[in-house]
Amino acid sequence: MKADLLYEGKAKRVYQAKDKPGQLVLAYKNDATAFNGEKKASFTGKGQLNNDISSLIFPLLHDKNIQTHFIERLSETEQLVHQTEIIPLEVVVRNLATGSITKRLGIEERTKFNPPIIELFYKNDELGDPLINDEHALYLSNVTSTELQEIKEKALEINKQLTAVFKKIDVELVDFKLEFGRLASGCMVLADEISPDTCRLWDSTTNEKLDKDVFRHGTGDLLEVYQEIFRRLEAKS
Ligand code: TMP
Repeated sequence: MKADLLYEGKAKRVYQAKDKPGQLVLAYKNDATAFNGEKKASFTGKGQLNNDISSLIFPLLHDKNIQTHFIERLSETEQLVHQTEIIPLEVVVRNLATGSITKRLGIEERTKFNPPIIELFYKNDELGDPLINDEHALYLSNVTSTELQEIKEKALEINKQLTAVFKKIDVELVDFKLEFGRLASGCMVLADEISPDTCRLWDSTTNEKLDKDVFRHGTGDLLEVYQEIFRRLEAKS
């Protein structure tokens, strides 16, 4: 199924799909990193959990007419996706204040953002993914202002749909990070992954953290909480 390795990131490898021009194989790794790679560990089974979770969520977005790069789950750790030109922006949507925004702006933990706050970060490991504004995004990436507007509208729609998906499994979608890519047709679609690596997910009743923050802050068992998210999602879909 896989041909040449095109790119290796911190959590995934990206291969050209064999005999399928315009398609890629994403292979999820067991590695976890935090603080721009400063903290590292490997968890047997993490790659499979993130692949499984992402492979459940993308089709739910397709059902709501949100276009993504996802085609199908291929194996325990691999999925087939459409090749896109990745826009070097990390688009963060925040419903509740926590994480970097509380420290950066002195906002109290758990403050509700209504409407949600969108933040853009420049996807650049060497620079530590700095927060940028719209003008920086237009300068640093090859998006037009219309496309940037489109990305923000899509991010808010995805937030609406994902919030509903997680509400059904008694999980609050606190914040998350998206990446977008341009298909050969020029169409902008959701790319990358949606998993507990890229979302903050809190149990609606107990507030238990069910995401990568347990690894970032050493407060819990990563595999256990990812497994819990997968178990709940699978039971509801
Ligand atoms: P932050 O509060 O650390 O800025 O994170 C905001 C959201 O983005 C949170 O859900 C975690 C996610 N995220 C990533 O997916 N990748 C990253 O590199 C970082 C820093 C955050």
